[in-house]
Amino acid sequence: MRITVLTLFPEYFDSFKLSPVVRRAVEKGICELDIVDIRTFAPGSFRHLDDSPFGGGPGMVMRCQPVLDALASLKSENTHTVLLSPKGGVFSQKKAHELANRQDILLICGHYEGVDARVENHVDEQLSIGDYVLTGGEVAATVVIDSVVRLLRGALRDTATTEESHENGLLEYPQYTQPADFRGEKVPPVLLSGNDKAIRDWRLTQSLLLTRQNRPDLFEKYPLSEYEKQLLKKADAEKVED
Ligand code: ADE
Repeated sequence: MRITVLTLFPEYFDSFKLSPVVRRAVEKGICELDIVDIRTFAPGSFRHLDDSPFGGGPGMVMRCQPVLDALASLKSENTHTVLLSPKGGVFSQKKAHELANRQDILLICGHYEGVDARVENHVDEQLSIGDYVLTGGEVAATVVIDSVVRLLRGALRDTATTEESHENGLLEYPQYTQPADFRGEKVPPVLLSGNDKAIRDWRLTQSLLLTRQNRPDLFEKYPLSEYEKQLLKKADAEKVED
């Protein structure tokens, strides 16, 4: 897979490129990560990148010429282009899978007060990483790239991503490791029981309870099976007994 990032701050990605999963994926040839400075496409020594908005108002707007020339020069027929913007659709695990299945993606990091709206006509989609405004799209690009790269086959060492939070519409169950008793805080005994079915049921119950409590929006959308309803009923009854 090839990932290209168009940015005014290429140095922002220096340490990100060294993060374990990204570095490993690049070294193993699983993905190529090209960080491109938008300035390269701004002609003249003045490098005119932004200007005040037509119609007035505060702040500066990124000019469309450098961004669109960069796009034209870097994209091929198969490139999926994304503008990172608080105005985009909200990024999700589902979207991460969708992007991970593509051969070639190009992410544009906006800056200043925004990007000339004509850029929007030349991208396949706009993505936001959440309902808040960042100073620039660089943070968002690292979020998107990290979540996509870890889904590529071979990028993670022995780890399966299928049981993680958001993979099946639920939050992940709690995980524990040694010691079984840390200063009086004990690991749930079922996890030490060796009883696979009991462990599976406990984990599913915890996922359901956690999602219901922390993310009622996700819980409402989750299609509960009869078996899961029973597990929840049992957990709720045990709670009342406590
Ligand atoms: N740029 C500024 N805010 C953003 C957000 N929330 N998501 C993606 N890009 C952004």
